Amino acid sequence: MKVLITGGAGFIGTNYVYTHMQRRPQDKLLVLDALNYAGKRSNLKKAEVQGLSFVEGRIEDKSLVMSLFKKEKFDLVVNFAAETHVDRSIEDPEIFIRSNVMGTQVLLDAALNHDVKRFHHISTDEVYGDLGFGSHDKFTEESAIKPSSPYSASKAASDMLVMAYYRTFGLPVSISRCSNNYGPYQDPEKLIPLLISRAKEGKSLKLYGSGKNVRDWLFVQDHCDAILSIIEKGQIGEIYNIGGANELENIEIASIILRFFNQSENLITYIEDRKGHDERYAIDFSKLTKETGWQPRVTFEEGMRKTIQWYKLNSYERSHSSGRKRVQTQSSYKSHKQTFTSGL
Ligand SMILES: NC(=O)c1ccc[n+]([C@@H]2O[C@H](COP(=O)([O-])OP(=O)(O)OC[C@H]3O[C@@H](n4cnc5c(N)ncnc54)[C@H](O)[C@@H]3O)[C@@H](O)[C@H]2O)c1
Repeated sequence: MKVLITGGAGFIGTNYVYTHMQRRPQDKLLVLDALNYAGKRSNLKKAEVQGLSFVEGRIEDKSLVMSLFKKEKFDLVVNFAAETHVDRSIEDPEIFIRSNVMGTQVLLDAALNHDVKRFHHISTDEVYGDLGFGSHDKFTEESAIKPSSPYSASKAASDMLVMAYYRTFGLPVSISRCSNNYGPYQDPEKLIPLLISRAKEGKSLKLYGSGKNVRDWLFVQDHCDAILSIIEKGQIGEIYNIGGANELENIEIASIILRFFNQSENLITYIEDRKGHDERYAIDFSKLTKETGWQPRVTFEEGMRKTIQWYKLNSYERSHSSGRKRVQTQSSYKSHKQTFTSGL
């Protein structure tokens, strides 16, 4: 089977490439990635040695995408490529629309024109908006789509396009909406790697607002296994929630990380809340378990130990201070005046 993995040099994409190669060694994989601040080709070094093909480029580049599909004749597309940082989307939404919405549409057209057998789109629980602090509800696949940030709005728009290509053109699609991931290869401006690097250096851990915002955390390897379960056993035209049954307040995460480094909780400080900050996410993934048997396997304790160990062994510099190449668009990123504090 020939597989296109877009965004495969980013956090989850990289983990997925290694999982797919291990679980389905007979498949031929190609990664298309724009290598923005979060995408690093070096993540894929071992995979390239083992036969992975890599193309640097943007999913919204129609001529590149069309020629790739024509040449490679992909059977399966797994679309991870996206701008993903909520704070960046508040600073400059435009590139989120280009990459996440227009890029997905270009991929869908290419998949349709070249008879792709399955188009699996990676989405997020953030498309559902949030649940209040006092709520005990969980998002199901039937929950209303009510995104709060330009990031989640762009993901919701791409989900709707994917479902429209199924309904209108019969493109064989599926979508997964996952809760927050943590694990190796995540860009250091996201919450958990940022808190790890601050705790390691004995610096303050800055949390938005009261630090009480709740997220459901899933180890990235479990997410990758869930995606493969959906591709192999899930139904075409269906949406599947993926979650960790592991709701934690940001302040609890900070405390756990400080304990790993034997640091005092006095290092936790609070800053002005993010605009439109979602209060709580909680996800009902019983449909996925019922249809495919998938369940999260890695406990938070074990996942955090593996994650911290990985960041100890791999120095991942923070992108906006490292002078790495940035994607140039008509309105390229504004300078990062704010400190990315608890980006999820
Ligand atoms: N990180 C999470 O907790 C989480 C949770 C649920 C869903 N998701 C979804 O999973 C996917 C991957 O997220 P991630 O955390 O790995 O993000 P990431 O930012 O680490 O990686 C995104 C990758 O996409 C690439 N990319 C961005 N725009 C592109 C474009 N226009 N063309 C080609 N490549 C492009 C980047 O270079 C990068 O390698 C996203 O679709 C995201 O919405 C993430």
